[in-house]
Amino acid sequence: MRVKSIRGFSAWAALALVLVLTSFGYAADPAAAAAPKKTPDVIFVPTPQPVVERMLELAEVKKGDVVYDLGCGDGRIVVTAAKKYGVKAVGFDIDPQRIKESLENVKTNRLEHLVTIKEADIFTLDLSGADVITLYLLPELNVRLIPQLEKLKPGSRIVSFSFDMEGIKPDKVVHEDGETIYKWTTPLKRESGAATRPKRDPDN
Ligand SMILES: C[S@@+](CC[C@H](N)C(=O)[O-])C[C@H]1O[C@@H](n2cnc3c(N)ncnc32)[C@H](O)[C@@H]1O
Repeated sequence: MRVKSIRGFSAWAALALVLVLTSFGYAADPAAAAAPKKTPDVIFVPTPQPVVERMLELAEVKKGDVVYDLGCGDGRIVVTAAKKYGVKAVGFDIDPQRIKESLENVKTNRLEHLVTIKEADIFTLDLSGADVITLYLLPELNVRLIPQLEKLKPGSRIVSFSFDMEGIKPDKVVHEDGETIYKWTTPLKRESGAATRPKRDPDN
């Protein structure tokens, strides 16, 4: 049997490639999302919508702000920020499935002009473009983010659903309907250590 070759690539080779890919679990469905390049540090659990609204209120989002959600899940926080406050918002997630869901959410709400969704590991990001950061991660992940959060512009707000940031003093802790939200404002205030110690008088 003669097999047509496509620009030097034989159809037998193409067929063999398809068989190998399918045996490794690659589906032919073009809508299927790929597996994450790195295992997510925390699984996807969405923030309840009333808590999303409260987080953004607590962050005092205002016109001209840029909101980043680190680990954006289905994009509900960035979509709500853009819809309710008319601000630009960027959602980052490491899981292509979450990226797909976020992009669908943005498209359904016709917010492509305000919301950007990026596939990225949050621990590699430069956060200096943000005025507001939203988090729903884990306590140890919040702590891992401190070096990046310390580089935020002065007056930036960080709000975290459920989890604190050990070593950094929150400006506010709100308990409502059994949920807790933490708020910090930059520059971050260390709970102990040099940054909070009064300066020594060099003459004494
Ligand atoms: C608990 S969910 C929160 C989702 C969303 N922010 C919300 O509040 O509804 C955490 C998200 O972080 C993502 N994630 C975990 N590790 C990550 C990493 N290193 N970089 C980017 N995203 C990550 C997960 O894929 C998941 O979607």
